[in-house]
Amino acid sequence: MRAVVWQGRRRVEVQDVPDPVLREPNDAIVRITSTGICGSDLHLYEVMAPFMEPGDILGHEPIGIVEEVGAAVTNLSVGDRVVIPFNIACGHCFMCDQGLQSQCETTQVHEHGTGAALFGYTKLYGQVPGAQAEALRVPHADFGPIKVPEGPADDRFVYLSDVLPTAWQAVRYADVSPGGSVAVLGLGPIGDMSCRVALQLGASTVIGLDVVPERVERARDRGVNAIDISDLTDKDTIEQVRVATGGRGPDAVIDAVGMEAHGAPLGKLAHQMTAMLPNSIAEKLMQRAGVDRLAALHLAFELVRRGGTISVVGVYGGMTDPLPMMTLFDKQIQLRMGQANVRRWVDDILPLLSGDDDPLGVDGFATHRMPLAEAPHAYDMFQKKQDGSVKVLLKP
Ligand SMILES: NC(=O)c1ccc[n+]([C@@H]2O[C@H](COP(=O)([O-])OP(=O)(O)OC[C@H]3O[C@@H](n4cnc5c(N)ncnc54)[C@H](O)[C@@H]3O)[C@@H](O)[C@H]2O)c1
Ligand SMILES: [Zn+2]
Ligand SMILES: [Zn+2]
Repeated sequence: MRAVVWQGRRRVEVQDVPDPVLREPNDAIVRITSTGICGSDLHLYEVMAPFMEPGDILGHEPIGIVEEVGAAVTNLSVGDRVVIPFNIACGHCFMCDQGLQSQCETTQVHEHGTGAALFGYTKLYGQVPGAQAEALRVPHADFGPIKVPEGPADDRFVYLSDVLPTAWQAVRYADVSPGGSVAVLGLGPIGDMSCRVALQLGASTVIGLDVVPERVERARDRGVNAIDISDLTDKDTIEQVRVATGGRGPDAVIDAVGMEAHGAPLGKLAHQMTAMLPNSIAEKLMQRAGVDRLAALHLAFELVRRGGTISVVGVYGGMTDPLPMMTLFDKQIQLRMGQANVRRWVDDILPLLSGDDDPLGVDGFATHRMPLAEAPHAYDMFQKKQDGSVKVLLKP
């Protein structure tokens, strides 16, 4: 089959790889019909290179058709239309029972001390072959896959794999109450969808901040008070957000930017260093040194009102990033974060995908739909935020 394969920093190729086969009784093989490119893939594309190996198949946002099931998979039949959550979870361990599927104790990657295995996401998360491919082997298919109805285009359901539950969790963890206020840093797919979910769940003030004018415009079209902060100092940004929130700051801030924030020169230098070092040393630097670009997170600490909540949904990876503990303590900030527990939120979201009204605007969410073969161009375009790209769906 054809698959998108990581070959080196900023180099992905579409290559022939062996077809996936059933290996465990609870595996399934799914033929992929649409598969997203995520901001998380951009971390692998460049800064997480030390944890990648040439030949790794990327991708974790698929929808497709079940082609084969193992003997223990009784919940799926050949021909079912399914979305596959990006985290691989067993559905019956202590963590899964708490709705913490991203911490599944059956699939945790003990070698690296990390949480549940993820599709297409580095050695740290099990080096599981990913979903930007014609077909995917799905471990724990007796729990993970979400059956969805025939009829609507893939766009309607594909975001259940990641974007929708991730944004949903970001908003729920932000603890935004009806009538409350939230600022969302970053208006990529995750931040954009977080704004939509916050509005849907009744927030009265939703402020979105980004440095890419098209993304700001896109959020504004959905009723978000969106601000282009590319030419603003942090002081001016904080001032504008205060003015929009009764002088106090929002009840909650969602950081949907993560480790590659613009405007963090020291972190940027560290990222460039990791790129120049041999993998073994760069790996240690990433794990032991603070290499995250923390501009957005620091801004979140400043923006949120006293006693408010910060929900970090952007991915961070440094181990000794310095934090302003005095500000966090003095402002009595509540901090929540983590990979989305995809399965935890699916039943809450599905009703919003079943009618014709499409309240979250998923049908028009993708800015680009491209053949799998164009993945190298798609990655380049999405990383550089060219051609108005926000969400790219690849069609194997
Ligand atoms: N927690 C999870 O389960 C989960 C799931 C999916 C994605 N993510 C993470 O969410 C983050 C966003 O993903 P995405 O797909 O939306 O990707 P993205 O890279 O397209 O979005 C990031 C956005 O942040 C903006 N930005 C950069 N610096 C900024 C700053 N200083 N202030 C404000 N905005 C800034 C960028 O212009 C961009 O629009 C990534 O870190 C990704 O890894 C987490
Ligand atoms: Zn993703
Ligand atoms: Zn589990």
